[in-house]
Amino acid sequence: MCGIVGYIGDKNATPILIDGLRRLEYRGYDSAGIAVYNGGEVEVKKYKGRLSILEERLREHPVLGSLGIGHTRWATHGEPSDVNSHPQTSMKGNIAIVHNGIIENFQPLKEWLIGEGYSFQSDTDTEVVAHLIDYYYDGSLEEAVIKTVERLEGSFALGIISCAEPDKMVAVRKDSPLIVGLGKGENFIASDIPAILEHTRQVYLLNEMEIAVLTKDSVKVLDRMGKPVNKEIFEVTWDVASAEKGGYPHFMLKEIYEQPNAIRQTLKSRLMSGKEDIVLDQIRLSREDLEKVTKINIVACGTAFHAGVVGKYLIEKLARIPVEADIASEFRYRNPILDDNSVVIVISQSGETADTLAAMREAKKRGARIIAVTNVVGSTVSREADDLLYTWAGPEIAVASTKAYTTQLIAMYLIALKLAKIKGEIDADLYLKMKEAVSKIPEQAEKVLELSDELKDMAERNRDAEDVFFIGRSLDYAVAMEGSLKLKEISYIHSEAYAAGELKHGTIALIEDGTLVFALATQDRLFDKAVSNMKEVKARGAYVVALAKEGNREAEKTADRVIYIPDTLDEFIPVLTVIPLQLFAYHIAVARGCDVDKPRNLAKSVTVE
Ligand code: AGP
Repeated sequence: MCGIVGYIGDKNATPILIDGLRRLEYRGYDSAGIAVYNGGEVEVKKYKGRLSILEERLREHPVLGSLGIGHTRWATHGEPSDVNSHPQTSMKGNIAIVHNGIIENFQPLKEWLIGEGYSFQSDTDTEVVAHLIDYYYDGSLEEAVIKTVERLEGSFALGIISCAEPDKMVAVRKDSPLIVGLGKGENFIASDIPAILEHTRQVYLLNEMEIAVLTKDSVKVLDRMGKPVNKEIFEVTWDVASAEKGGYPHFMLKEIYEQPNAIRQTLKSRLMSGKEDIVLDQIRLSREDLEKVTKINIVACGTAFHAGVVGKYLIEKLARIPVEADIASEFRYRNPILDDNSVVIVISQSGETADTLAAMREAKKRGARIIAVTNVVGSTVSREADDLLYTWAGPEIAVASTKAYTTQLIAMYLIALKLAKIKGEIDADLYLKMKEAVSKIPEQAEKVLELSDELKDMAERNRDAEDVFFIGRSLDYAVAMEGSLKLKEISYIHSEAYAAGELKHGTIALIEDGTLVFALATQDRLFDKAVSNMKEVKARGAYVVALAKEGNREAEKTADRVIYIPDTLDEFIPVLTVIPLQLFAYHIAVARGCDVDKPRNLAKSVTVE
């Protein structure tokens, strides 16, 4: 979604802003712009389209100055256009702002401002903020910002500069991430860490409604009343290289290959060897707490929701607690039945997804205890939850989630086993056996990656496919949903995931000669049923690719092709089964010439509803 970078120091701001925006490109955008104080005025350059267009124009007409803000916009209010791009400015052009999020009450504010004599250039919600700051400005930018944000409803991360105070930058956030980077003789703001990691590893993570006032030598953080807040410095431990491609043609492929290690990291210091218990030190549920829990809800969006569906199966099976997995945007509006004995597990790679955050807050308001599973340290989800489990996948840049998903599955495995243990629902031998199975996953995932060439070949042969189906039962169905999402989001091929037993109730009508069907058949107890479903679609002309456990050659008798997955317990095989599906989606998208890392219409972090 939108990206923000800001710089104040002694260097030329333009290249720093452009470089920062480039590192945020993965979030998805449709226009880009910067505003730099050039010694006399705030100069704005902003254009619809890729960052390269902005760069080209800046080469022709350079903008020089040591104070600036930059933005990549993903249109919400107003079509993508030069005029709707950010930065937006006040009427006199003396104040410039960049904004991520949505101002929900912009219409009444706009009408009020028009009544006060303001006129508008753009269709954006953001322009009202620039005018409001101008309205309240009385010699102190931060005071004007404090007064302005009190009138705003919705979500915002804002970076603001003014030529009336050219030694200052102000930033503020609510429901949209924003950090402050601390340098020597220079300081930064950004909506995401990779944007400024080249310059500093020391950051402040701004909390809701905190206002940062930056000069080149100082950073002051204030609360909404203007009182100073003591901030702890957060030290970023990962490096720029881990947020770059490292020789791979695409981030997505790099991230697929990073999975064994990401899984290892997520298990490290949690899955202890031998008889030792699983350690999840930020999940503090006791046996007494669990006794009172009548139901768990898992709430998430997209891929994270698919991880939640696997979590549902496992927690119900191992810990014998009823679980509902919900899409966050549905959950938040369906008046969910929750109380003080409810537990809600929120899964979010970014920890900033608007629908997930809203669902979490709704659940909290109703008394539920929140367990967050997130990949981003200091994200809003991590800060607002009661209990926490980080996935240690490292930065995920490609829009299509891969390593975030597999590490979310690992988080689900750990939570399910832990809850089962706390509740006393699992006997010691099975617990040990399951822990051992989980500990082998990283190596097994490495083996699955060796299938890449085979999947590339299959993808190239099917590059013109128009419809692809993914079918499975139980955990295979949960993985089928993720395989189907991966394919459609990056290759734009129509695809559906179906519970295999449900096909005959309608969808089988879509199967015709040559339709490609991935039939997931990794669940031992349902294998015969899966074979029957393969036969059903084959009889209608489908080309069936089965995914089955190594050692079970039975599927070969029915399927046209079989992909073998290393043998493990049925409960934990999803994390392996999904990898060939990720590789197939990746290779077919490449074969079709798609923009794999930045698929059309999608953004990495969906911070608007
Ligand atoms: C899938 O590839 C997408 N990236 C998307 O479905 C994503 O999982 C969803 O938007 C949720 O994001 P989150 O995990 O950051 O909350």
